[in-house]
Amino acid sequence: MIRFNGISKSFGKTKIIDNLSFEVNEGEFIVLIGPSGCGKTTTLKMINKLIEPDGGSINIDGTNISDVDTVTLRRKIGYVIQQIGLFPNMTVEENICIVPKLLKWDKEKCLERTKELLELVSMPYEDYAKKYPTELSGGQQQRVGVLRALAAQPPIVLMDEPFGALDPLTRDALQDEVKTLQQKLNKTIIFVTHDMEEALKMADTIIFMDKGKILQKASPEEMLRNPAGDIIREFMGKHMTQNNNQDLKAEDFMNVNVVKTTENKQTLECLEIMKRKKVNSIIVTDKENTFKGIITIEDLKNHGKVGVPIGTMLNKEAQLIHKDMGAKEAFDMLIETKRDYLIVVADDDKVIGIINKTSMVKALADALWGDLECMNS
Ligand SMILES: Nc1ncnc2c1ncn2[C@@H]1O[C@H](COP(=O)(O)OP(=O)(O)OP(=O)(O)O)[C@@H](O)[C@H]1O
Ligand SMILES: [Mg+2]
Repeated sequence: MIRFNGISKSFGKTKIIDNLSFEVNEGEFIVLIGPSGCGKTTTLKMINKLIEPDGGSINIDGTNISDVDTVTLRRKIGYVIQQIGLFPNMTVEENICIVPKLLKWDKEKCLERTKELLELVSMPYEDYAKKYPTELSGGQQQRVGVLRALAAQPPIVLMDEPFGALDPLTRDALQDEVKTLQQKLNKTIIFVTHDMEEALKMADTIIFMDKGKILQKASPEEMLRNPAGDIIREFMGKHMTQNNNQDLKAEDFMNVNVVKTTENKQTLECLEIMKRKKVNSIIVTDKENTFKGIITIEDLKNHGKVGVPIGTMLNKEAQLIHKDMGAKEAFDMLIETKRDYLIVVADDDKVIGIINKTSMVKALADALWGDLECMNS
């Protein structure tokens, strides 16, 4: 249906789109995702000739779009832009009916369509049709922007971060709405987002772009299982952490099986504990469980004298974190530090657990499996 053949585009001396080729099938929901500035909007705008490529060609239904009259082309393509872009001097109804009017629909049909569309997003005609964009909330403006693009039932719809400024509930409802419409009416949609969760939910196929090139084109399932490279993995991780694990704290995934001892214990006893528990360091506390230091197998070997309490040779360099520290911050800290674990403490330095690489894996797996379950339901 839509085919990019070796498209390139530079602004000034900078190459923004670099020999881009891909295909979109009829009825397919394609999501373009990637870091800010990677060329998503530029790619979209070339489809309706808002930007002309320097090289290569774009075909729609087998015809090179450079041979098609721009106005004719745009009537077939609905477009929701990144900053809403309603005409401020037109009412909601007039905004929605721009293209139907161009197509010379009669008044009755325009009215019916406007009512039907506003109904769809719970903005009753009687309350909203005669309002001007400035009288609407940001979210309502964004909905009208989406409706405007759908009004004339174009076979292709381009959507550039259409739900960016919406609250999560409205966003979720509109995502469902657009997805249902697309399936019911067999529309071809190219949808740009920053949000991997949105991409996973909406897409038949995700195209991950970076620096004007495609890094991976795959189904959500495939991208989730086999992300092609660190940037994509990071994108998924980042979004999953932000969206699913926002409130996850160090305490929620720490390991509570901590090998501890008290400062009055002696060297041989400590060696015995290390051997038994198969660890090479022990956390040392006082009788009230307040952190005092750690003792490592090296410390014992180098300085340990038989019959001396370990309190005299404690290693104070261990890294403590408070139980309320956010998951991401704790993980970043663990990766930065050269140590095997961070010690999680409650108020007054009471030791309650540790965080090591295994805790990280567990938290990440939770995020992944959680998300896969959502997708299957
Ligand atoms: N008209 C222009 N003139 C010069 N440079 C431009 C123009 N339009 C875009 N660019 C540059 O091209 C690059 C890609 O821009 P584009 O808008 O396609 O990115 P994007 O992937 O949509 O980013 P975002 O996610 O932030 O919307 C950016 O570096 C941008 O500064
Ligand atoms: Mg953009």
